Amino acid sequence: MTTRIRTRVAIVGAGPAGLILSQLLADEGIESVVIDRRTRAEIEATIRAGILEQGTVDLLTAIDPGTRVHTVGQRHDGIELRFQGEGHRIDFPGLVGRSVWLYPQHEALKDLLALRLANGQDLRFGATAMRVDGVGTATPQVIGTDAGGAELVIDADFVVGADGSRSVVRQAVAGSSRDGHFREYPFAWFGILCEAPPSAHELIYSNSDDGFALISQRSPEVQRMYFQCDPDADPNALSEAEIWETLQRRVPGTTLTEGRIFQRDVLRFRSFVAHELRHGRAVLVGDAAHTVPPTGAKGMNLAVADVIVLARALRALLVEDDERLIDAYAETALRRIWKAQHFSWWMTSMLHVAPGTSDFDRLRQLGELRSVVESEAGRTFLAEAYTGWPHA
Ligand code: DHB
Repeated sequence: MTTRIRTRVAIVGAGPAGLILSQLLADEGIESVVIDRRTRAEIEATIRAGILEQGTVDLLTAIDPGTRVHTVGQRHDGIELRFQGEGHRIDFPGLVGRSVWLYPQHEALKDLLALRLANGQDLRFGATAMRVDGVGTATPQVIGTDAGGAELVIDADFVVGADGSRSVVRQAVAGSSRDGHFREYPFAWFGILCEAPPSAHELIYSNSDDGFALISQRSPEVQRMYFQCDPDADPNALSEAEIWETLQRRVPGTTLTEGRIFQRDVLRFRSFVAHELRHGRAVLVGDAAHTVPPTGAKGMNLAVADVIVLARALRALLVEDDERLIDAYAETALRRIWKAQHFSWWMTSMLHVAPGTSDFDRLRQLGELRSVVESEAGRTFLAEAYTGWPHA
């Protein structure tokens, strides 16, 4: 038995990109179907970064005035860059008139899933895309299986791959699932969630001789912290005491408030941009199109920026039969993608200590950090990128 669905836009992936796109399309009267191989509970349990740019928050508020970003989330007006035992605050509103919000991605996902389902979105969990056919024609198809294992065929006017870093749609757009610009890093992050009050009001990005650490928060009772580690580190190899000892050493000049660690993971670092973001009637957005290393938390924000550009282009194409914006989609999106790639790489390389670094490179890095914090131009450059370049 095959289930056949006909829709205007088939969206593969119910992460932030796919869900926001379906809402923006619905606001223009364009119907879509969203499928995701995961269950709703799995999507809502995704542990990802916690920082939303000003423009991301503005968009979430515009599509959902009830978003909990303003009640559960917290506005942050700056970060601390810490090196050589001293903290240096970057004051975002004072420098660029914008802020960021600490609001974990899984909370944003809960809001978005509830919003789309309340608005009647056709959203299918446990439905797996296997391949995309006919992207060079006016009637592309997503072929896969539904939650019961039966064949599922979606006939659409357009297919969007919002299906994450292991994208299935990428094959149809880029010709190969691994075809892209790549960069690997010789380190990863050891991330923890712990039961403790916050150690600071804002995030601390700390560079020490021993390596990098990031002190973030989740709520008054739960904190998120990370420290640079070996990419092959086993998250279960360290005792709680060893984790705290490492974290304390990585933020010299402050004392972190410790508590029970109830979650640990190792996040690999990688920069990736697919060679092609569009082929005929299919495009890639979000992690399907690009991956950034986590320093600076650009991942979800960049996905949101892609769908803002794409929603306008699909409206022009599907409502006005105007192909100009969809023809420009890749070029327009790539301008911001490469700025974000640069920012994520820059924050990463400025703050981490690569294994086997020379004295020259270590001292040059401290000179770079000092150039940023002691210059209004330097602080402004960082604040502009961190809070997010305005959407066109
Ligand atoms: C968080 C993650 C990041 O990568 C970052 O730069 C800031 C915050 C977080 O998970 O809280």
